[in-house]
Amino acid sequence: MSSPSNPDGLLARANEAAGILKDKASHSSKILVLSHYDADGLSAAGILGSSLSRMKGNFQLRVIKEPDPQTLDDALRCEPEFVVFADIGSGYLEGLVERIKERELLIIDHHPPSSKPSQRVVQVNPHDFGIDGATDVSAAGLAYLVCRNLSPSNADLSALAVVGALGDMQDKNKERCLRGLNDLAVRDAVECGCLKTDRDLLFFGRETRPIHRAISLTTTPYLPYLSGEEDNCTALLASRNISLKDGERWRTISDLSHKEKQALLSGIIDLLLSKGFKGSKALELIGTVYTLTKEPTGSPTRDAREFSSTLNACGRMDRQGLAVAICLGERGTVMDDVQEVVTGYRKRLAEYMEWLTQTPSAVTELQAVCVVRGEEKIAENMTGALSSIISSAGHLRPDKATVVAAKSRDGGVKISARAPEALLRKGVDLGLVLQKAAAALGGFGGGHNVAAGAHIASVNPEELYHMIDRLISEQMKDA
Ligand code: C5P
Ligand code: C5P
Repeated sequence: MSSPSNPDGLLARANEAAGILKDKASHSSKILVLSHYDADGLSAAGILGSSLSRMKGNFQLRVIKEPDPQTLDDALRCEPEFVVFADIGSGYLEGLVERIKERELLIIDHHPPSSKPSQRVVQVNPHDFGIDGATDVSAAGLAYLVCRNLSPSNADLSALAVVGALGDMQDKNKERCLRGLNDLAVRDAVECGCLKTDRDLLFFGRETRPIHRAISLTTTPYLPYLSGEEDNCTALLASRNISLKDGERWRTISDLSHKEKQALLSGIIDLLLSKGFKGSKALELIGTVYTLTKEPTGSPTRDAREFSSTLNACGRMDRQGLAVAICLGERGTVMDDVQEVVTGYRKRLAEYMEWLTQTPSAVTELQAVCVVRGEEKIAENMTGALSSIISSAGHLRPDKATVVAAKSRDGGVKISARAPEALLRKGVDLGLVLQKAAAALGGFGGGHNVAAGAHIASVNPEELYHMIDRLISEQMKDA
């Protein structure tokens, strides 16, 4: 049974962690920060890096994909005295403690802990306080809860906490807004004048892309006939008399009048209905827009969802350095490189979606899961983003989990799994499923109930997929 929610307990733990960080920084202890390579981990890295740098701490930042022995040994070569993990670690506590040896550890993570931490570990984790780390606070949010205790001037870092939580899709609720402890960062950010919130249409690139392109680039929610279909978007806009240009200038979603937005939304609903889909899908386009007001208009860092997607693109395209740079506040010419990476990332995702549409045989359907067999096609870093899109698109069976598989660099298998609402209601926890399956097959696996992943170096893929299917079916029977 889960313990009762105790946010004050978590805030006190964050304060304790801040005290330790301050002490280490003021004694010039050599600090190593290891953070996960997705948008949330990168935002957490930005928050911790900025805070340590403002304290003139002696620290090194490193972005990692997995806390496997090789990665940890490589990272520890700098011989740190104190190690901080962000957005990674709680799910692999025993392995970390063994590898980090006698050093002290701070873990700032929202993944369910695999066991009770030992005395050398201070863990800031919502699950220890009855708070759901998949919906109520992300790792960047936790890093912010720690760092806001270090100095009032760190209040501006709340904006990155918002970016991280959106990167982890913690706004995937009916209102499409951030809730729980994430709301604390939202309120701080508004108060310090770096964030504005509005209820509006949530198209991707709402301030940066021409309207037809913004609609076609939107994948949360995935809009059949529009996502990835720029020509259909242009036709829809023409049919509703919405002009694409104002003179020579391309208009953006944020330029649309209230009346035009209404016309666009009803056009999308009519289109979905005419193609046999539920019109209510379009209502997922209405939610809270988070605008980072200190960022320049037209920049991909101004809309917090676009910012997080930009970070994900850099992380997944192996340009983590670029992502950390923008999280630490670098702008200017760096943004040209960022734009190029985002274009490459989007192109790659579109290619995979096209391949999936053209290749129905790529999907193996089992009792409780649909497996996209991308072992010969998909790059291992891309499984997470693809799995989220396919799952939200409802391309496969909406009552089954989606698993996207790729070949890993060591010749093994990397998978990303996502559970639809229907399975969560039946008590399915994909994090537990992948933790068990990976442990049984000698790999790394874990995550949240709704989204989890695994990497297994040496395995018969069929055996892995059938094991996952069996474990999910068992969870449903036991619920
Ligand atoms: O490592 P971490 O917890 O930060 O990653 C969670 C992942 O799960 C993110 O890639 C996020 O996009 C995905 N997710 C999802 N659907 C949800 C919640 C999270 O695809 N409802
Ligand atoms: O890689 P992907 O986006 O599918 O990850 C989904 C979730 O599973 C993330 O929270 C990630 O941290 C977690 N995960 C894990 N162990 C792995 C792979 C992913 O805990 N080996």
